[in-house]
Amino acid sequence: MKESKDNLFPIFNEILKKEEKEILLKQNAKVIWMTGLSGSGKTTIAKGVERHLHSIGILNQLLDGDNIRVGISNNLTFSSEDRAENIRRISEVSKLFLNCGVITLNCFVSPTIEIRNIAKEIIGVDNFIEVYINASVNTCEERDVKGLYRKARNGEIQDFTGISAPFEAPKSPKIEINTNQLSIDESVQKVLDYILPIIKTSKI
Ligand code: ADX
Repeated sequence: MKESKDNLFPIFNEILKKEEKEILLKQNAKVIWMTGLSGSGKTTIAKGVERHLHSIGILNQLLDGDNIRVGISNNLTFSSEDRAENIRRISEVSKLFLNCGVITLNCFVSPTIEIRNIAKEIIGVDNFIEVYINASVNTCEERDVKGLYRKARNGEIQDFTGISAPFEAPKSPKIEINTNQLSIDESVQKVLDYILPIIKTSKI
């Protein structure tokens, strides 16, 4: 049986704050939330951003859908309810990193406005930087790096985003990257150009 919240006594106000951790790390923590179809380039771009930030001394953590789904979300399917639960969990995890002063680079399909609103609400709008990695279904299907579009077309995978499950593009992302047009390096640079002035403190 679920325990009542009445019996819990969270101590959020008694532990060290985000701002104190940020001073230690000399950086401003944000969640860089990348949304887009499977195969649009989220992880590839995030890996480039991760390396660059690390090379200039900015502590960050890449959180990737496939990695999370073999770990903390390994009991979840791709139904809309389970996707929402997946995003709720990862948003809570992101908040822990955030409160530790660490920038997270999140690569999740997170296919609907409602699901991304769950993330925004948990993380807090001021710390949530939405990045739309935009590539058409055709492009992603042509790339088909993981062979999943072929399986989805054959009916071997149900509820596949872009084929048999919806994807709603963000209405006003902070950054939009069209990977049909930009190279990987240009895409990484576009993310860095936007986030570096925000996450770097004057001390670095
Ligand atoms: S989300 O919708 O809950 O945000 P998430 O980002 O965790 O999805 O996982 C997406 C990854 O799982 C894809 O990159 C792909 O490799 C894999 N995957 C397996 N089945 C599906 C599916 N039905 N729809 C989308 N992605 C799938």
